[in-house]
Amino acid sequence: MPSFEIRKTPGDTTWFRHDRFGMFIHWGLYSMPARHEWVKSHEKISEEHYDKYFKHFDPDMYDPREWARQAKAAGMKYVVMTTKHHEGFCMFDSAYTDYKCTNTPAGRDLIREYVDAFRAEGLRVGFYYSLIDWHHPEFPIDHIHPRRDDPDAEQKSAGRDMHKYAEYMRNQVTELLTNYGKIDILWFDFSYDTDANNPHKWMRGKGAKEWEAEELVALARKLQPGIIIDNRTGLEQDLWTPEQYQPLEWIKDKDGNLVTWEACQTFSGSWGYYRDEMTWKSPEMLIQMLINTVCIGGNLLMNVGPTSRGYLDYRAENALAAYAGWMKYNARSIYGCTQASDEFKAPRGTRLTQTEDGKRLYIFLFEYPFEFLQFPGLAGKIEYAQFLQDGSEILYDEHKVNHFSEGASSAEDLVAFRLPVVKPNTLVPVIEVFLK
Ligand code: GLC
Repeated sequence: MPSFEIRKTPGDTTWFRHDRFGMFIHWGLYSMPARHEWVKSHEKISEEHYDKYFKHFDPDMYDPREWARQAKAAGMKYVVMTTKHHEGFCMFDSAYTDYKCTNTPAGRDLIREYVDAFRAEGLRVGFYYSLIDWHHPEFPIDHIHPRRDDPDAEQKSAGRDMHKYAEYMRNQVTELLTNYGKIDILWFDFSYDTDANNPHKWMRGKGAKEWEAEELVALARKLQPGIIIDNRTGLEQDLWTPEQYQPLEWIKDKDGNLVTWEACQTFSGSWGYYRDEMTWKSPEMLIQMLINTVCIGGNLLMNVGPTSRGYLDYRAENALAAYAGWMKYNARSIYGCTQASDEFKAPRGTRLTQTEDGKRLYIFLFEYPFEFLQFPGLAGKIEYAQFLQDGSEILYDEHKVNHFSEGASSAEDLVAFRLPVVKPNTLVPVIEVFLK
């Protein structure tokens, strides 16, 4: 049995670790310039200039039921969408700001429709909420703020009151966790309280202290007991969240305990819709990223950045379809699975997962081998083996590779699976082993 001791946290992460695969959605005004969700900061765009997006935001093709259908088909079990990103624009009807979708041509609460649609498809629903806010008048200017290089930036920032902004966040989090029913995940983003990159003394990064994170998190827990909260307020909560890189082993906390973690990744190099960004990952890479994550005990939160008209661009749809095609047949090597117990060592070119109850072992063939997959250490442990995608038996020999050639391996504990020369028609074939 793969019995890993995982650090206990305030929220209930049992369902989360079982489900393994979720959809991240980055959608806001930045889908209009369509050149990164940080465009306002990258290009130091003024309020006045950024306002044209507010005036013209009209997602006439927004149909979150369609998104939800595609997420479900891709095998995603939960979803996290931006209710507000760093630009400060609210995708929900907040009583604490006018800077919200209901005041644009969109004219309605987009979060409400999102919640209803994904819930109807049976997915668990989460909210991303940006701690950073480049619109709020009380948010002090710092080294990543769009106004950082204005000649009068220091002066402009001087009167800003971070306490008022922290209160604004508590008010909005109260709205989000009160008005939309049960919310499963709250994903705050992010803390940057190192002063390393600050060009000016008066600028400071922000972290748990500035967000008044203790209060913020306590409030969220009071409103939605059991909710899962990430660590990006600067306080360790339920979720460790490596971003845009592939961890190679189970994430640990500072004391070396295994934790519940979720890698967040993009189909291409940006979170918000970026028309001209061309580094779209191949279908094979996408599938491998999911497996590479689950085989070391993690979850994958894969992002889509919808267009400003409210639909998923064809490249995102293709990427989701790649998951759908593979997950349709291979999902049970992912759900309820985790890192295989230490007694199993992945042979060259493979990855392993194992069911939580220890009864099945999954072997993912990243490199499709010629005729035999040799797996030392497995002899005597197999009850039955088959390809997962079609449930067809895989024959195997124990103690030796069944071949007359000189030098064919033999070892007491060896299992040699006999594979068809032609790779099955699936991006990553999986051998399902029923263990004794
Ligand atoms: C980063 C970025 C942001 C994105 C997030 C997702 O912190 O600031 O744009 O939303 O990562 O993990």
